[in-house]
Amino acid sequence: MPNILLTGGAGYIGSHTAVALLARGHTVTLLDNFANAEREVPDRLAQLTGAEILVVEADIRDVETVATALADQNIDAVIHFAALKAVGESEADPLLYYEMNIVGTIRLFEAMQKAGTKNLVFSSSATVYGQPDASPILENAPTRVQNIYGRTKLVMEDLGADLVRTGFLKGVVNLRYFNPVGAHSSAMIGETPSGVPNNLMPYITQVATGERPYLQVFGNDYDTPDGTGVRDYIHVMDLAEAHALALEYILQTPGALTVNLGTGTGISVLDMIHAFERATGRTIPFKISPRRPGDVASYYANPSLAERLFNWKAKLTVDDMCRDSWRWQARRAGINDV
Ligand SMILES: NC(=O)c1ccc[n+]([C@@H]2O[C@H](COP(=O)([O-])OP(=O)(O)OC[C@H]3O[C@@H](n4cnc5c(N)ncnc54)[C@H](O)[C@@H]3O)[C@@H](O)[C@H]2O)c1
Repeated sequence: MPNILLTGGAGYIGSHTAVALLARGHTVTLLDNFANAEREVPDRLAQLTGAEILVVEADIRDVETVATALADQNIDAVIHFAALKAVGESEADPLLYYEMNIVGTIRLFEAMQKAGTKNLVFSSSATVYGQPDASPILENAPTRVQNIYGRTKLVMEDLGADLVRTGFLKGVVNLRYFNPVGAHSSAMIGETPSGVPNNLMPYITQVATGERPYLQVFGNDYDTPDGTGVRDYIHVMDLAEAHALALEYILQTPGALTVNLGTGTGISVLDMIHAFERATGRTIPFKISPRRPGDVASYYANPSLAERLFNWKAKLTVDDMCRDSWRWQARRAGINDV
C-alpha cells in the first residue's frame, strides 16, 4: 500500500484523515509545525489505531527537511492540509496568508520535485465559490473569491493544476470542503479552535459546556425555510474517508481535478441547534442578532462528482455530527456524563 505524507497531519482534518488512511492499510507520516495542533495528537492517534505514527516536526517552507522526509519515507503522495485558515485574520494580514499558504505550497512543491513525489491531494474550500448563484453548487460554478483566505485557496488549486499540465506532477485532486464538523467517535481527537470560535458547531458545544452563555444566531430573515442561514455540514470522518478514496483514485488516474466534498443537504442554524439538543440532551440558549456582512443565505454542495469518481458518499447523520462534537468537547471540559 502507498506511503502517504500529511502536511498539517496533526491538525483537525489531517488527524482524522490519518485514521481513515491507516484503516485502509496505508502508511502515514505526519509533517506539522504544531502551530495549531496539540502535541499529544500523534500519541493519541497511535493509541486509537494501534499503528506506528511517524512524525516530522517541520514547517512546510523548510524545503530540505520536507524533501528528506519525502525521500526517506519513500512517499508516494502528499495530502496537503497545512495552512492558515481564519478568514478574518487573512483580511487583517494578507501577506502572512500569502506567505504561509501560497509560498508554503510553492516550497512544498519544490521539496516534492527534489524527492520525485508526484501526487497530491489538496485541502481547498467551498469558500472559493463566494456568493453562488444557486445551491446545490457544482464544481463548474463560477469562483468568486471574497477574502484573502479564499484567494490563497484558489491560487493553490491553480498552482497544482499548472504543475500537472506541465508534467512536474502526475496527479492533483483539489477537494473543496463544505462545512466540516464532528470528531472521531472515540473523542480522542477533534477540533481545538483557539479563542472565540468562528464556526457554528464549536460555538454550540462551548455553549453546551457553559463556557459561553448563549449562541448568537446571525439573521433570521434570510430567504430560507426558517429564516436562518443554511449550510452543508459534513462529518469529519466522512471527509477523512473521501481523502483516502481521492488519493487511491489519483494514484491510478493521473490528471488534475477539483471535487466538492459535502453531503448535498442544507441544514439551517435552527435545525442544527435542535439536532444538537436532541442528540445530547443539552439545552442551547440562543439570541437572534443582525445578519453578518458577507454571509450567504444558503450554501450546499452537489457532491455527485465525488460519488461518480471515488464511489464516495457521506454516510454520517446530523445526529452523529452533534453527538461526536459533543463527546469531544465534553471530554475536554471534564464533563463525564455523556
Ligand atoms: N476546518 C474547516 O472548516 C476547513 C474548511 C475548508 C478548508 N479547510 C482547509 O483544510 C485544511 C486543514 O484544516 P484544519 O481545520 O484541519 O486546520 P488545522 O489548523 O486544525 O490544521 C492545520 C495544521 O497545519 C499545521 N500547519 C500550519 N501551518 C504550517 C506550516 N507552515 N508548516 C507545517 N505545518 C503547518 C498546523 O499546526 C495544523 O496542525 C486547511 O488547509 C484549511 O484551510 C478547512
